[in-house]
Amino acid sequence: DIGALRGLETFLQLLSLDEKGVTVPEIAIYDEPRFPWRGLMIDSSRHFMPVAMIKRNLDGMAAVKLNVLHWHLVDDQGFRVECLAWPKLHEQASDRNYYTRAQIRDVIDYAAERGIRVVPEFDLPGHGSAWLTAYPELASAPGPYEIERSWGIFDPTINPTIEKTYEFLDALFAEMAELFDDEFIHIGGDENNGKHWLANPEIVAFMEERGYDGPLTLQRYFNERVLAIMTKYGKRMVGWDEIFEDGLPKNVVIQSWRGRESLFESARLGYSGILSKGYYIDLIQPTDDHYHNDPLPADSPLTPEEAARILGGEATMWAEYVSPETVDSRIWPRTAAIAERFWSPVWVRDLEDMYRRMDRISLMLEELGLQHERNRPMMLRRLCQCRDVDALEVLLGAIEPVKVYNRGRLRKHTQFSPLTRMVDAAWPDAGPARNFRWAVARLIESGFTEGDDLDAVRNTLITWSDNHAVLEETIRTSPALADIEAMSIALAGVSITGLEALDVAIAGDTKNKEWLDLRLERLDAARESHGQTELVMIDPVVDLVCAVALPASMSAESCREQDAPVVEHH
Ligand code: ACM
Repeated sequence: DIGALRGLETFLQLLSLDEKGVTVPEIAIYDEPRFPWRGLMIDSSRHFMPVAMIKRNLDGMAAVKLNVLHWHLVDDQGFRVECLAWPKLHEQASDRNYYTRAQIRDVIDYAAERGIRVVPEFDLPGHGSAWLTAYPELASAPGPYEIERSWGIFDPTINPTIEKTYEFLDALFAEMAELFDDEFIHIGGDENNGKHWLANPEIVAFMEERGYDGPLTLQRYFNERVLAIMTKYGKRMVGWDEIFEDGLPKNVVIQSWRGRESLFESARLGYSGILSKGYYIDLIQPTDDHYHNDPLPADSPLTPEEAARILGGEATMWAEYVSPETVDSRIWPRTAAIAERFWSPVWVRDLEDMYRRMDRISLMLEELGLQHERNRPMMLRRLCQCRDVDALEVLLGAIEPVKVYNRGRLRKHTQFSPLTRMVDAAWPDAGPARNFRWAVARLIESGFTEGDDLDAVRNTLITWSDNHAVLEETIRTSPALADIEAMSIALAGVSITGLEALDVAIAGDTKNKEWLDLRLERLDAARESHGQTELVMIDPVVDLVCAVALPASMSAESCREQDAPVVEHH
């Protein structure tokens, strides 16, 4: 029945509309998933996600044939499941935002009907603020503890040296193992900094008694104790990289967020694993980065037997910078491309075709109830308190939220920060900027002879260069837009430089180094981020400028390198 569900989803994707109506190509499909574990992780702790959000995302997952919802239910910022054994967890560490047992069962049933398993994560022993807010007697340091409101790696850590901890976890997992009927439970295990362990003389004495050489060894002891509990309740344990130690029973599963190398290493030693490094969709990277990140590349060093231990991968939707209103736009449509990576053969890699199909899937996903498309214009209307948001949309075609961990570096956010600005409405992977980039590349390649691309590039640059004049008044009357005024001005400036280069090319002219250097300097200045956004159409304009002013002695590459990015990328 699950195979039939997957087949029907593929069939739905083949429907297309043309002048004759809705048609399906006459084809035979022989299909099977490449990996058995095709996951999406949703973090409900940093920002609570209502059941409606979980359900609509399960619909989206089913549409792209994902089959594991990894539900990150516990972190420093909240414990999100009703717990009968230890009720202070949901009563005191959730701001009353938690899922009842009935809601959890409802979600599990809803997922099961769509061929999706639900793997809950209870992050231990670090990321412990919520646990310890409710039950400080389990802590490694005196406290007091409270729900964490900001983002990062914090010190609160469960005390692994006291029996009370294991009695507590035994009762907790007895209950959770029954509530969550999947074979797997995830215990987190990531980013335990060990500070509170090393500051506690009793814990240090415990380590010395047993000859443990550091917190990692103590965490291994903790993992083994937790594993015994999991095993007792018939569960297999999943954890992040950090839980990995050779010597653990081979039925634990390692989820790698730090690198494919560690995944391969554990596969060599006999452990199954899931890749998440490279699928961190919260980091706002373009779809192609994720699409070309393969859990098991064609040139992987693993033997077939070892390779079979790579179960698949998971996209991770960490929720520091998303609300229920914006989260779908960070998951979709990029996760459709990741889902294809987990399902389709390794050689399916054509980027242009992927983007073409992703654009269509995005509309199908919207029809299922996902809000990644529809919330954006609503957010823009709210920002300007006006109906005509065309100019704001044009700006969003050229800017994206800053990447990787830069958002938190540029501005302090907490759980209470509004996520209602242009940066929150912006696409992670702006389509107009991408199309512009491709058209410019083809245009330069053709020696400025490709007419369609020339028109497309020119028209885009004209729209962009005129946009600030249209937007100026809106920005002036809406303080929440003030932080992107500089972006709007920069878009116009960069576009004018692009048009100038285009005119030079059309005239068959070339410019000298002095002309070039001045323009590169201006383009470089436009890279400065404002409102935690960055202008993503600068590189192709640099290419245009280089193409018409290349001194004989300089390669296109070294010309581009003269214009160095200001925002650092990791
Ligand atoms: C993680 O990103 N700390 C698993």
